[in-house]
Amino acid sequence: MKNIVILISGGGSNMAAIVRAAERDRWAERFGARIAAVVSNKAEAGGLALAKALAKAHGIATAVVPHKEFPTREAFDEALAKAVDAHAPALLVLAGFMRILTPGFVGRYAGRLVNIHPSLLPAFPGLNTHQRAIDAGCKVASVTVHQVTTELDHGPILAQAVVPVLPDDTAATLAGRVLAQEHQLYPRAIAGWLSDTSCHIR
Ligand code: GAR
Repeated sequence: MKNIVILISGGGSNMAAIVRAAERDRWAERFGARIAAVVSNKAEAGGLALAKALAKAHGIATAVVPHKEFPTREAFDEALAKAVDAHAPALLVLAGFMRILTPGFVGRYAGRLVNIHPSLLPAFPGLNTHQRAIDAGCKVASVTVHQVTTELDHGPILAQAVVPVLPDDTAATLAGRVLAQEHQLYPRAIAGWLSDTSCHIR
């Protein structure tokens, strides 16, 4: 069985969408894959409560590695890797995981580390993507699923979706429209990765 580990920091709606898709689309049967664990860097993350609720029904482990308890980024990443490796992941999925990872961590999971970012990468890496898209006068906004490399919000693109930017959009309304697309796109991109074992991420 290929284990998938999901890292979150916040609301966890992408994580929940992936868990539901795995169940609905029978990933275990079709791809020999399952969501093994959800790990958060914040004990108070809404997504963690959601993951705990899903844990019983789906047999998913949950863990917290609070970044604030570690003196350096390297020390945190080392503890995070330990929590992740306990589940021997074939794929590590960043779903609203809002920490910059060290090159050592990224290298450890090279070829099996993916992220979702709410913009049409390579445009608008970093934070506040929706406000920046509105301020730039963009007519469409987007979401990108990509392989993670040591450069923040870069790396080969696996999938993208676009939505219109409407004249009266705020960052919040635009984020909601993009998030609905995220919930479709991320499970689809992961299923694509799982279904094509010859297409290993490099
Ligand atoms: C999502 O919009 C995701 O694309 C974004 O955080 C949100 C998490 O929502 N990720 C990034 O900005 C990463 N650079 P969720 O916790 O409800 O899935």
